[in-house]
Amino acid sequence: MSPSEFKVLVVDDDKNIRRMLQLALQNEGYFVDLAGSGAEALQIATKNSFDLAVFDIRLQDITGIELFKRLKGLGRELPVIFMSGHASLTEAAQTVQLGAFDFLEKPFSPEKLLITAQRCLERELMQKRIADLTNKQLNLSLNLQFTSPQMRKIQDELAKVAATDATILINGESGTGKEVLAHEIVSRGKRKDRDFIRVNCASIPESLFESEFFGHEKGSFTGAVQNKKGYFEQAHLGTLFLDEIGDLSISSQAKILRALQNQEIQKVGSEKILKVDVRIIAATHRDLREAMQAGRFREDLFYRLSVVQMTLPSLRECADDIDFLIAYFLKEFSLKHGLPIKDISDEALRYLRCYPWPGNIRELQNVVERLVILGGPQLTTEDLPDFILSRASSSLQSNSPTSLRSFREHSDRQFIVETLKRVSGNISQAARELEIERSFLHKKINHFQIDKKEYLT
Ligand SMILES: Nc1ncnc2c1ncn2[C@@H]1O[C@H](COP(=O)(O)OP(=O)(O)OP(=O)(O)O)[C@@H](O)[C@H]1O
Ligand SMILES: [Mg+2]
Repeated sequence: MSPSEFKVLVVDDDKNIRRMLQLALQNEGYFVDLAGSGAEALQIATKNSFDLAVFDIRLQDITGIELFKRLKGLGRELPVIFMSGHASLTEAAQTVQLGAFDFLEKPFSPEKLLITAQRCLERELMQKRIADLTNKQLNLSLNLQFTSPQMRKIQDELAKVAATDATILINGESGTGKEVLAHEIVSRGKRKDRDFIRVNCASIPESLFESEFFGHEKGSFTGAVQNKKGYFEQAHLGTLFLDEIGDLSISSQAKILRALQNQEIQKVGSEKILKVDVRIIAATHRDLREAMQAGRFREDLFYRLSVVQMTLPSLRECADDIDFLIAYFLKEFSLKHGLPIKDISDEALRYLRCYPWPGNIRELQNVVERLVILGGPQLTTEDLPDFILSRASSSLQSNSPTSLRSFREHSDRQFIVETLKRVSGNISQAARELEIERSFLHKKINHFQIDKKEYLT
């Protein structure tokens, strides 16, 4: 990371301090712009983009905090280091709550600023790398060669719905990839370059619901210190992903429904009706039909959302995919951590296949990442976590008698059908040949649900 790649905006009303900070930063190699007031800073920052800003808390015209908020409101959010000569703890805490990177108390040495600036930019870079990595993983993840019919079906449906603007409801247990699927649907459609706003419906308090979803006007209630765009407005022309929709309260459901039906919203404290063009994708791990019957989910909202329903299978249902997902994540995480790709023993694979994976793909992914980091060069059962060994071995044991029993049942049935065929359906003769009682044969025929059509041709 070289300072010459970064632009810094320094805002202070004291000319000497501006000059001193400019020299320190420029000597290090940074590009520096200066502003002596909040108004000047706003003007410069709306025309140019910066990687970092250093704000004095008390400017002549507005406070540094106000400046930070206004820039955020203009979509010019950037990492900020605040400084103050008369720092109060409350102010320092307030800036950090607002998302400031750090707070420096004047007087501070130029070195202190340089170290803080470097740490801040490194963090930004790291966050960007993580975001890029996640995006890369997300893009890849539904193009994979799934073998189970259930995941193949999802891939087919995905191809069909992606080009449309249809509202989609995604069901599936936790960790099955509902969010991954939502991203994938959008990334293949015409709104891919527009905003994708994800809302976790479970985390929004009832009292803030309208302000969060529809926005508010400045001064419309205590605490509404500035105008705020709600999720619908933010997602205008893009996509609104309503995650955990099953957790929305009944009264919030009514409000969402109205917005969806009319494609329009009204901000809290405003008379105006705003038209919005938003594609909706919703997801839940809850059974909405059951919630509807229990009166916890509105039927009209359910039908509105479930124009297309996609249900992600649990990993238990598509055991066929486990081997391939393990191989995929082994490769993926070895690359991520710069380690050689490991082999895995058949025995260890057998255990992993038998484990019920309550946390689905997320859990499998975590287990494999751990194996990549902590396991030996050839992964064996020794490397597997205890919880997998114990759950899987109990299911391995209970599985064998059942499968042996089902194997016997299957072959018993086949034997009876063949005998009946040979004797043209004569039950007495078949019972004699099978060396069993006639009544017992009848019982078996009922038990196996053998139909006459199967042996009379
Ligand atoms: N098809 C896939 N390919 C690769 N990774 C996947 C896939 N599906 C899910 N994952 C991984 O599993 C994890 C969980 O996925 P996601 O967050 O989409 O699940 P979810 O169904 O939304 O879970 P929850 O209900 O807990 O929110 C993610 O880290 C993701 O990387
Ligand atoms: Mg999720």
